[in-house]
Amino acid sequence: LHDGQIQASLVEVTPSKDPKTPPPPSTLVFGHTFTDHMLSIPWRADSGWGTPKIQPYAPLPLSPSATVFHYAHCLFEGLKAYREPSGKVTLFRPDMNMKRMNTSAERVAMPTFNGDAVIELMKQLIRLDKHWIPEEPGYSLYIRPTMIGTQPALGIAPPKEALLFVICSPVGPYYPQGFKPVALYGTTEYTRASHGGIGAYKLGANYAAGVAAQKAAALQGYVQNLWLHGPQHHITEVGTMNAFVAFKRDNGVTELVTPPLDGIILPGVTRDSVLALARDHAAGVLKIPELTDKLVVSERPVTMIEVKAAAQLGELVEFFGVGTAAVVSPVDRIGYLGEDLHIPTGPDGMGPLSRPLWKYLTGIQTGAIVHPWSVDV
Ligand code: COI
Repeated sequence: LHDGQIQASLVEVTPSKDPKTPPPPSTLVFGHTFTDHMLSIPWRADSGWGTPKIQPYAPLPLSPSATVFHYAHCLFEGLKAYREPSGKVTLFRPDMNMKRMNTSAERVAMPTFNGDAVIELMKQLIRLDKHWIPEEPGYSLYIRPTMIGTQPALGIAPPKEALLFVICSPVGPYYPQGFKPVALYGTTEYTRASHGGIGAYKLGANYAAGVAAQKAAALQGYVQNLWLHGPQHHITEVGTMNAFVAFKRDNGVTELVTPPLDGIILPGVTRDSVLALARDHAAGVLKIPELTDKLVVSERPVTMIEVKAAAQLGELVEFFGVGTAAVVSPVDRIGYLGEDLHIPTGPDGMGPLSRPLWKYLTGIQTGAIVHPWSVDV
């Protein structure tokens, strides 16, 4: 017996009888195309995790009373698989996603699971569909592990039935024409997260609540929200990404700042990776090519007052978002309380920190730089 845990070795694989032909990579729109197969693992409170199945991608049979439709019992992850020129396929830090998925599940009283088994099962799924990963540079397979409450019951309680499933979507570079800096709207009318709330967890509800705010920002000519928090307008996140700001300090030092994980920030995998690389560079244990600024790396609160003052004094080096989907997203303008702050960007749209950090990180992700974060599939 399996102790209620997920048993990767019990997986039942049903190959598709009607496999599709992957579309030309240049036609891909983020998250609109899905591969031939999916992974699903049911859970019941009385028996734990059931038999994992890899089967053709298909609609889910769910009762209209399933808790996911009523009380937002839904959490998800996003990670990417890369195909190296040699044909080798790798995943980037999947252990981090499994850890966070379990934290999200606990927050909404959903079942936790042994992440290693799901990594093993995702690898099997990816091997089956690996011809869907475009070979062109900058392309990858976006993997979407999801967990929903499936119990058909309207009482508000921990769901007694759940489903963990994983689907895969071939994706191109977020900026196919090169980096395009985005304009942000410093949002004070809406709050993304609050202390004790759910903003530090990757729950579907967080994203649904952000869409109206994004729409309002777009109506004013901005691409994304800069989520500000509290009376001092603390910088929290950029759209669905973590925020980084760089300031010029004395003696030619640049301070790279991101807000701390104090309960209102999503613990991003790209955030953690950028911090680790920048810290190793600052400590002299890693040399990131073309990163010439002398660095200090801080996880500390940062307010719009500080960013605005730095912009006015010419001490703002750059501002960027980081996330799995876009990796790095430079910002060139922030609308704040009726005026626009302008942020410097280089001729290629990036800055003196984001460019070398992006290059190094994507080098690891694509296998050009050998690193333990990249895991063989
Ligand atoms: C990110 O990777 O930056 C995201 O948050 C993904 C988004 C599609 C939800």
